[in-house]
Amino acid sequence: MSDLANKRIVLGMTGGIACYKICELVRRMTERGATVDVVMTEAATHFITPVTMQALSGRPVFVDQWDPRVPNNMAHINLTRGADAILVAPASTDFMAKLAHGLADDLLATLCVARACPLLIVPAMNREMWANPATQRNAAQLRADGVTLLGPTEGDQACGEVGSGRMLEPHEILEDLIAYFQPKALAGKRVLVTAGPTSEPIDPVRVLTNVSSGKMGYAIARAAREAGAEVTLVSGPTALAAPRGVRRIDVTTAHDMLDAVMGRADSADIFIAVAAVADWRVKEVSASKLKKTDGGAPPVLEFVQNPDILGTVAALPRPPYCVGFAAETEDLARHAAEKRARKGVPLLVGNLAQEVLGRDDTTLVLYDDAGEHPLPRSSKLAAARQLVAEIARRVAA
Ligand code: C5P
Repeated sequence: MSDLANKRIVLGMTGGIACYKICELVRRMTERGATVDVVMTEAATHFITPVTMQALSGRPVFVDQWDPRVPNNMAHINLTRGADAILVAPASTDFMAKLAHGLADDLLATLCVARACPLLIVPAMNREMWANPATQRNAAQLRADGVTLLGPTEGDQACGEVGSGRMLEPHEILEDLIAYFQPKALAGKRVLVTAGPTSEPIDPVRVLTNVSSGKMGYAIARAAREAGAEVTLVSGPTALAAPRGVRRIDVTTAHDMLDAVMGRADSADIFIAVAAVADWRVKEVSASKLKKTDGGAPPVLEFVQNPDILGTVAALPRPPYCVGFAAETEDLARHAAEKRARKGVPLLVGNLAQEVLGRDDTTLVLYDDAGEHPLPRSSKLAAARQLVAEIARRVAA
């Protein structure tokens, strides 16, 4: 929850109905430790008042270039020096045009020109305004100038129309902002991750599965993406949303998962097998529902073993860097070492099942050629980021 600790963000708001969503964004940013200085254009104050933004950020809000509260009359310099980023959300059509041309006719535009820090903008506008060739030209110019554009996305718009130009939701802006500040240790790498349980049919209404929530695998996919990798997440059935920017492929059975993985393993640089793959499946899946009869004998199911996905990838002639997981109930070190050898992987990550399953925090222990390396107990996302850094270090070596 302290993803933005020690970050000073200048949050610029320009005129648009999406301003109302920025209240929520500021709450979430401060909750994660950021210091947020809100700067509004005059147009933005027609949608949300500076008092609202002051209450939410807990800091003075700036609108006027000639603000008498600023003794040296240089709010545009004072605010940006020491800032980690300027985030303009919502960024209107007009403001993008100003930025693309370096205009400095109000406080926010002036501090964007005078900045010594990265600038991220979150466009929000009607679909025709976004599609307008002038806006597209300005967007391209801003990208070329090193400005990061977050979104826009497609969907229902406040004006009643549907199309591209809709602002990202506050939680998406937050996720992108947090990702922006993460070290890019996996830039240019392709990472393939499996996550969640698999579900093996018994009959059309019954399955054999396990209690994996998918949280660890999803956290790793997110951390790898934050580190700059192109990430594909092959996921069994879970209730989780895919992390932003991650391509998710949904599968059900271990065989589906194997197919999805083998189709992509050759082009992956790193394969991280986090999925709790069902070890067995039912040999003969019944085409119709198995019926219970009063006093009748329960069915007897015969099982066959599922393919080992991690072992199969690790045995490829030119395998990606393979990372396995072991969730054990006891004797972690012995089982982990045995599993690492049996699967033929350079790195195996162990944890105690009873301490992690379904929870939001975890304790990971890394096993490699050099021995055992425990990581401190932390949230699954923090642990995932540490693990990704460890993997990046080993891959680079
Ligand atoms: O074989 P075991 O379940 O003990 O090993 C766990 C590791 O192997 C995990 O990384 C898991 O994702 C992977 N695995 C797999 N295919 C299986 C079973 C496990 O990829 N059929």
